[in-house]
Amino acid sequence: MAEKLRVLIVEDNRADAALLVRELRRSWELTHEQVETAEAMRAALDGQTWDLIISDFAMPKFSAIRALELLRETQLDIPFIIVSGTIGEEAAVEAMRAGARDFMPKGKFSRLQPAIQRELKEAAARREHRAVEQRLRQSQKLETIGQLTGGIAHDFNNLLGVVVGNIDLLQEMVKDRPSVAELAEEALNSALRGAELTKRLLAFARQQPLTARTVNLNEVLPNMIGMLSRTLGERIKIDSRLAPVLWPTQVDPSQLEDALLNLAINARDAMPKGGDLLIETANVHLDERQAAVQADILPGDYVTMSVTDTGTGIPPELIERVIEPFFTTKDAGQGTGLGLSMIYGFARQSGGHLSIYSEVGIGTTIRLYFPRQQATVEPAGPVSTAAASSPTGGESILVVDDNAELRRVAVRVLTKLGYQVSEAADGHEALALIKAGERRFDLLFSDLGLPHGLDGADLAAAARLLAPGLKVLFTTGYGVDRRNGSAKVDPAILLRKPYRSQELAERIRAVLDAPKAN
Ligand SMILES: Nc1ncnc2c1ncn2[C@@H]1O[C@H](COP(=O)(O)OP(=O)(O)OP(=O)(O)O)[C@@H](O)[C@H]1O
Ligand SMILES: [Mg+2]
Repeated sequence: MAEKLRVLIVEDNRADAALLVRELRRSWELTHEQVETAEAMRAALDGQTWDLIISDFAMPKFSAIRALELLRETQLDIPFIIVSGTIGEEAAVEAMRAGARDFMPKGKFSRLQPAIQRELKEAAARREHRAVEQRLRQSQKLETIGQLTGGIAHDFNNLLGVVVGNIDLLQEMVKDRPSVAELAEEALNSALRGAELTKRLLAFARQQPLTARTVNLNEVLPNMIGMLSRTLGERIKIDSRLAPVLWPTQVDPSQLEDALLNLAINARDAMPKGGDLLIETANVHLDERQAAVQADILPGDYVTMSVTDTGTGIPPELIERVIEPFFTTKDAGQGTGLGLSMIYGFARQSGGHLSIYSEVGIGTTIRLYFPRQQATVEPAGPVSTAAASSPTGGESILVVDDNAELRRVAVRVLTKLGYQVSEAADGHEALALIKAGERRFDLLFSDLGLPHGLDGADLAAAARLLAPGLKVLFTTGYGVDRRNGSAKVDPAILLRKPYRSQELAERIRAVLDAPKAN
């Protein structure tokens, strides 16, 4: 079958135009229009998309040079070939300067065909190049916003840690005064909502602590999909198409579940009258070229999870923006505009990528890419069951955090639980306390990111030399912190900020009760 070609012919001579059309029809499925004035050409350019312009050089009411000027004004990139009976060397040079891609005498069809082939190919390459640059600019923009929001979110996390921790302590104290307890409860709920928001911002900034495991998406998805049907209601029909054999991948399963839930809720919101939701998995190999087109992803093997809906779709001019934090088309209170931001950050932080394909009135596909993992699938770790009341203890604990308020909250909570608590503002102070030997510490509870050249991990290593058998629990608000390399810290001894008093109590007890030093 012949390829489609849309040609705008700038020509006053009907017979010449007819000849040209007949020639082109031999190789292409042709759509064409003939114009011979500037107005007609402008209208034709406005009216539809053209692959090519073929123009006579001089016409009674128009010329190739003016046609080229007009084309430049529209900023359209359409190859322009001059086919003319009379074109001298000077005129040819003038035409090429004005932007013509080629010129040839009338009737020389043997030259015209290959010239068109070449121009179409080059125009396609230019288009692809522009698209890649555009995506790159977009991802750089997101990177910049990410750095900004990451910094803000991290500070807010610390502030909220202080607020939540103190309200937890307050609630303990006012248990028998319901009217005061109620105020504390409301303040706590808002602080926790704030913490949820900063968590999403950190996710977008690719700074959330991730606990990646080697998993097969085909094994974890059915469970998650089962839960979705209850959330989405009856009007949405959920289908899944899982690849028969799927490569394993490294991903944080709880974040994946969160991502899927958010995608499904977006889909539901886009299908107010109901519709179909399709969840698919696939193995995908991206070669150099495909990776370059996506921007921001390295060539290689990926496992994809795609969520497709039959909803309203996203208009092309908004596609770029939906990932930006706080971009939402939903009414106030209905959406914060952080869902896709968070999912994008999660995919990128996992070494993958997010792509969006959407057509207005037809639906949307959001696809997450995760890098293929060569290792075998690990079984899920033991699920910890939350205790109803905070476990207590009498051991001696050294709390290290450069943030004085956060440190104070931790000290108060642990003291209330019965522990003997000392505190230090940085690693040097902590080591001095251990060296002084006034107290023998059972556990070091330290922030990972500490100032003055000694981070939490360094401190723990040095402290263990002084006090072999010392147990350690770290805390952090960051995922992968350039300074402290917390990515390498075992999640079993890492408590994410901001934390509730109950969590702190449980994690401290668990580390203390572990058979040997971690
Ligand atoms: N499946 C979809 N179909 C149509 N539009 C979508 C879809 N997913 C996202 N959008 C558009 O992208 C916007 C941003 O989505 P995002 O999930 O980031 O935020 P939100 O859903 O508005 O709020 P939040 O997820 O924080 O509650 C949405 O407001 C909507 O306009
Ligand atoms: Mg959303």
